[in-house]
Order: sequence, then structure tokens, then C-alpha cells
Amino acid sequence: MLSTILTTGGAGFIGSHTVLELLNAGHNVICIDNECNAYHEKNELLPESLKRVEEITGKNVTYYNVDIRDKNALSSVFKKHKIDCVIHFAALKAVGESCRLPLQYYQNNITGTSVLLEVMTENQVFNFVYSSSATVYGDPIFLPITEEHPTGACTNPYGKSKYFTEEILKDLCVSDNRWNVISLRYFNPVGAHKSGKIGEDPNGEPNNLMPYISQVAVGKRTLLRIFGNDYATEDGTGVRDYIHIVDLAQGHLSALNKLIEGGLRGFAVYNLGTGKGYSVLDMVKNFSTACGIDIPYEFTSRRDGDIAACYASTEKAEKELGWKAKYGIKEMCEDTWRWQKNNPNGFAALKSDL
Ligand code: NAD
Ligand code: WQD
Repeated sequence: MLSTILTTGGAGFIGSHTVLELLNAGHNVICIDNECNAYHEKNELLPESLKRVEEITGKNVTYYNVDIRDKNALSSVFKKHKIDCVIHFAALKAVGESCRLPLQYYQNNITGTSVLLEVMTENQVFNFVYSSSATVYGDPIFLPITEEHPTGACTNPYGKSKYFTEEILKDLCVSDNRWNVISLRYFNPVGAHKSGKIGEDPNGEPNNLMPYISQVAVGKRTLLRIFGNDYATEDGTGVRDYIHIVDLAQGHLSALNKLIEGGLRGFAVYNLGTGKGYSVLDMVKNFSTACGIDIPYEFTSRRDGDIAACYASTEKAEKELGWKAKYGIKEMCEDTWRWQKNNPNGFAALKSDL
């Protein structure tokens, strides 16, 4: 069923890849973003990521520079368009920054989501897909992590903002049976679209592994610091469930289909991962092979708040959403490299943030 979908934070990494898949599937897409983490060239109508999504798909995105905390601006978007479903990506997401600026994180991620849910209620829109995170599981007590694993033992304000928002969504669904909400718990999204035109574009020094490795490969950083080689894992480095961004984006389409076809009442959560764990050293090795360049690295001490290993059970998403990741580590590395090589400074051709 073709629908009109509002994406918040649609100009970001996960948002832009999902918008692309939504357009390719024939949906009408409305996008809002406050551009706090999206590059927008002066005198252009769209942020660069969405401009490129239009080029790749040959389809149009309707775009508004709106902050989700601005109730009036948000309401006017809902008045202008008959929206069937909201996919809510907009959030601040840097773990370290969230420890320094907890109020900003709670304000943006929790208050912002509450304003959005209020405006949706006022406009009788009750289908909602939420960007949650494996971080809600904290340090796992069993692996692979199923959706029944306890949540809430998060060690930083960012993680807590994801957990609290899930709790708000559960309460909302209990209070009013018109709501249908799917919370997608992403594991570690990496990779880029095959075109090499859109990808992850961190500001300044990357916090996450994959963009760091690719910036070393392209010569922007001199070496990778590996945070700990004394974990109880096969090679001592941290193990994660990396998932290709295109698979992740397609997971949103499966969730959306379930909602708009009426296959869900109330609240449900699904893990989006591959079910496989790779260590930091596995990632370095596979990336070197993909780009043909050695990645220099050194071992340093563990990063605060890091866990040894984390990977998903993917059964529930497979069974109930009919979704399963298709791409492996090779494509994740090759596609990240194509994006990085073609766009050494990300979306801004002249940006220098070394
Ligand atoms: P991103 O920063 O690339 O995208 C988020 C977008 O939201 C940005 O374009 C930003 O400008 C916008 N935004 C932020 N606050 C806003 C506000 N108040 N109003 C309007 N727009 C706002 O991040 P991403 O990696 O694409 O993440 C998308 C979502 O997925 C986030 O909710 C994040 O918490 C979640 N998530 C990300 C990861 C990851 O590793 N990337 C993992 C798990 C969950
Ligand atoms: C992966 C592995 C590091 C950088 C984070 C958030 C999580 C979620 C996804 C949003 C770990 C190691 C990393 C580096 C390294 N985001 N590493 N050197 O920590 O699993 O998850 O992003 O929801 O909330 O916490 O991902 O990519 O930062 O780290 O050795 O320079 O790489 O120690 O083992 P993480 P990551």
C-alpha cells in the first residue's frame, strides 16, 4: 500500500538511506530536519544528502527545516499533508557528548519526541516507527540478545534517552489503543549506498569505529586507536553486530508495511542486526582488503562504558516482519570505502574538519 510518510531527521545517515528506499518503493516522503547534523549548501533547497537522494532516485522529497521541539512549525507540516505514518530518526546521538550535556540530550531526544507525539495525536496520526538502539540492553547478560533481554541498564544519557523514550511509547500504547508503534533496536549501522553518493558524514573526529577506519584509509587520520585488547573475546578486542545501512533502511520498510497493513496493534520491538559478531581486528582486516590499504593501529586502554561483545538474535524480525539482512562484512567495507574515497570530506566538498 503506497502511503505518505513523514520522516524526522531524514537528512541524517540512517534517515537519508531510508528516504531513498521509501521513494524507490513508491511512497510519498515528507522530510523534516533541523540540520544540526546535516550539511546544507547555501542557496540550495535541500540538505546535500537529500539532494543526492533525489539525484539517485529521480524522485522528489518534500522538505522542511523544522525542529521537532517547535510545536507550531510541526503542526503546520501536519496540516499541510495527510500523513499516514511517522518514522522518527531525529535525535542527538554522541555518547560522550551526552555525558557532558545531559540536559540537551533529554530535551532533544525525549521532550522532542513528546512534542511530536502530541502533534501526531492532535492530527489523528497513530502509526509510528521509532529509532531505538541496542544500547538499551546495556552490558548483555546473555548472547545473542533477544528482544526479551532486560533493558534500562544504560551507562550514559544518550542510551537512557533511548530507553526512556521506549517506556513513554509503551505507556502511550497502553493508554490509547489507536496507537501502533514499532521500536527498532539498531545494532551497529555501517556501510553506504552502492552509488557512493550518500553515506555517514561525522563532524570532526569520528566517535565510531567504521568512519574512523575509513578516515585513516583515506589519509585524514594517521592511525586507529583500538580501545582495549584484553576483553574476553577471541582476539581480545570488542565484538559488535555491524549491519549494512541499506539492510537497516529496508528493515524500516518492512516495519512500515506491517503498520499500514494493520498487522500490529499497540507496541512492538524488533532487533535490526545480522546476528553475527565481528571484532575490531576483524573490521580492520576486512576494511584493508576492501580498500587495498594497510590500516595502522595501536592498542590503547578500554573506552569508558564499552562492553566486550554484543550481537542480536534476528529471529523475531525474520518471523514477524519478514526481514533479514542480506549484506555481509565485505559489502559493508567496500561500500563504506566507495563513499569515503569519492567524498573524502563528506558532503561538503570544501569542508576541512581535521
Ligand atoms: P544523524 O545525526 O546522522 O541523523 C539525525 C538527524 O536528525 C540529523 O540530520 C539531525 O540534523 C536531525 N535532528 C537532530 N535533532 C533534531 C531536532 N530536534 N529536530 C529536527 N531534526 C533533528 O544520526 P543517525 O545515525 O542517522 O541516527 C538516526 C537515529 O538512529 C537516531 O535517533 C539515533 O539515536 C538512532 N541510532 C543510531 C545509531 C547509529 O549508530 N548511527 C545506532 C542506534 C540508533
Ligand atoms: C565499536 C567497537 C569500540 C572507535 C555506539 C553507541 C551505540 C550506538 C552505536 C547509537 C568498540 C571500538 C571504536 C575507535 C575502537 N549508537 N573502537 N576505536 O560503541 O558499539 O556503539 O554506536 O545508538 O549507542 O555506543 O560502536 O563504533 O563506537 O565501537 O577501538 O576509534 O570499536 O571500543 O569495541 P559502539 P563504536
